[in-house]
Amino acid sequence: MKLTSIAAVTVLAASILYSVSLTSSADDAGTQRHTVPVDSPLRDLAKRQDLLIGTAVDYDAFNADTVYRERIATEFSSITAENVMKWQLLEPERGKLDFTAADELIAAAKRSGQKVRGHTLLWHNQLPTWLTEGVASGEISPAELRNILRKHVIDVASHFRGKLYQWDVVNEVIDDDANLRDTIFLQNLGPGYIADVFRWARQADPKVKLYLNDYNVEGLNAKSDAYFQLVKDLLRQRVPVDGFGAQGHYGVQFGFHSASEVMTNLRRFEDLGLETSITEVDVRMIMPPDTVKLQAQAQGYSVLLQGCLLARKCTSFTVWGYTDKYSWVPGFFTGEGAANLLDENFAAKPGYRELQAVLALAGR
Ligand code: G3I
Repeated sequence: MKLTSIAAVTVLAASILYSVSLTSSADDAGTQRHTVPVDSPLRDLAKRQDLLIGTAVDYDAFNADTVYRERIATEFSSITAENVMKWQLLEPERGKLDFTAADELIAAAKRSGQKVRGHTLLWHNQLPTWLTEGVASGEISPAELRNILRKHVIDVASHFRGKLYQWDVVNEVIDDDANLRDTIFLQNLGPGYIADVFRWARQADPKVKLYLNDYNVEGLNAKSDAYFQLVKDLLRQRVPVDGFGAQGHYGVQFGFHSASEVMTNLRRFEDLGLETSITEVDVRMIMPPDTVKLQAQAQGYSVLLQGCLLARKCTSFTVWGYTDKYSWVPGFFTGEGAANLLDENFAAKPGYRELQAVLALAGR
C-alpha cells in the first residue's frame, strides 16, 4: 500500500487525541474500567490492553549505558536479546556453551517484572564458524549435523526452561520467493528439520510458546501464504507449533500494509489455533529525517500495533531496539536510519506518541 494523505490524517488525528489528556474511559457496557493517562510509559498502557510490549536489548549498551538500561525497565514489559541467545554467541567454540550474557539479561528482566522472548534457536545467520566451516568442508556429515542440531536445541531450550514465555524456534526459514530457504540445514537434513527442531524444543521446555518468525509476513502475500501452508502441514503432522511472529521491519519509502490487512493475516494463523506476535518492529527512513518522514514512520508503527490489537490472540508487540542511539539499521542499509521510537538522545519521536495514543484509545 502506498502512503496516502489518509495516513497523514490518521496520524494527525491520533496526535490531536494525544493532546487531550485521557484519564478515564468506559467500556461498551458503560462500566468504568481501569484507566491509564495517555502519557504513561508504554508498558502501563499496554497492560490495559492485555498486551506485552517489548524491545530487543543490545547487551553491550545495556551494560554500558545507564539511561538505556533504565528506560528499558520503565517502558517495556518484555525483552528480547538482540543477539546473545543466538548460536554464534552461545557457542563460539564447539562444546563450550556460554550463557552468561543471556542469563544476565534474564535476571535483569526478572528484577524489572518483565517477560523474556527467546530469539532464536535456529537461524541461518550468526551461526558459529566451526559449524558452517565444518559443514562446508565435509568434516561435519549430514548425520552429525543432525546430532549437533538436536543437541543445540535441547541444551539451549533446557537451559532456559521455564524462563521464557515465547521462543523463536525457527527464524526466517522461508525465503523472499516463498520457498523453503536454501540453508545448510535444508541442504543436509531435508525439509523435515523444521518439524524436528520444534519437537526437540517441546521436549526440552514443555510450556514455552514455540514460534515461527520472519520478516515480510505482516500482510497477505506469497511469503505469508507459504507460512500459512507450512503451519498447516506441521499441525497435520502434530508438530508442536504455538505461534507465528511477524517481525515488522518497515521502511517509510516502501509504504506499509493497512492495519486491517495485518489483522486479517494474523487472524488466519489464529484460526489454525496459533497465537501471534509482532516481534521486531522498526521503521527506517532515508537519512536525514524530516517532519514528513517522522509522521510516516509513526504511521508504520501504528498500523502494526493496530493490526495486533485487532487480531484476537496477538500477545506481544516488540520493537527491535527503541532508541536511534543503538540500531542495527545504519550498519546494514547505507544511508538509512532513524528507525526507532526515540531519537539518539532518548527524546520521543512521533512514533512513540502514536503508540501511546493507540494503546490508550484501543478498546480491546
Ligand atoms: O560481536 C561482534 C563484535 O565482537 C565486533 O566488534 C563487532 C564489529 O562490528 O561486531 C559484532 O557482531 C555484530 C553483532 O550484530 C553484535 O553487535 C555483527 O557484526 C552484526 O552483523 C550483528 O548484527 C545483528 C544482525 O541481526 C545479524 O544479522 C544485529 O545486531 C541484529 O539486530 C540483527 O537482528 C536480526 C534478527 O536477529 C532477525 N531478524 C532480522 C534482524 C535485523 O537484521
